[in-house]
Amino acid sequence: MKTYKKKNFPVTKIRRFLEPGPIVLVSSAHKGERNIMTMGWHMMMEYSLIGCYIWTRDHSRTLIEKSGECVFNIPEVALAPTVVKIGNSTGAEIDKFATYGLTAEDADEVGAPLIRECFANFECRLVDRSLIKKYSLFVFEVVKAHVAPSPKFPKTIHYRGDGRFMISGEETARWRRLFKPEMLEG
Ligand SMILES: Cc1cc2nc3c(=O)[nH]c(=O)nc-3n(C[C@H](O)[C@H](O)[C@H](O)COP(=O)(O)O)c2cc1C
Repeated sequence: MKTYKKKNFPVTKIRRFLEPGPIVLVSSAHKGERNIMTMGWHMMMEYSLIGCYIWTRDHSRTLIEKSGECVFNIPEVALAPTVVKIGNSTGAEIDKFATYGLTAEDADEVGAPLIRECFANFECRLVDRSLIKKYSLFVFEVVKAHVAPSPKFPKTIHYRGDGRFMISGEETARWRRLFKPEMLEG
């Protein structure tokens, strides 16, 4: 089996290897105002909960804390330039839907809009505020999911820091037979 000779590595850069799932666009709304932020720091917490980090300086944080809702929208790689622009501007100054030509659609369960140009939209309710003050950690429950049936394996983008992205690649079930049946449920 392959082994590796390693060197010291800066702790501040370990995100390059652990960065979680696809970059998402989080949309929010409160009292007639709407917004979008780019997010890489999120994780699944079992099947329908999502934990994520939202910086104190993000305008989205105010809208999400006040409304208790948001939508996680997942873009494909073609939207990457827009994703970067959204993450490098603030809704405190511009309407990002209008500025970046994105279409807001009404959600079913929450006030925050769905982004039509994303292949998946997950409507979320904020269910735990206890770690917000200490860690800026928000815990959401997905209350409704909308997913395009095609493409079956969308090309998502994954942030590695320092302006670099990884684009999702090959899909395989090569190791599926190594799973216990119960581990494949859900
Ligand atoms: C690739 C990328 C990933 C980002 N991930 C996060 C994140 O996980 N959490 C966060 O608070 N900000 C993240 N940001 C920064 C916000 O998207 C950025 O501060 C944004 O401008 C906030 O917009 P707002 O002020 O309109 O809410 C990321 C930005 C980029 C470009």
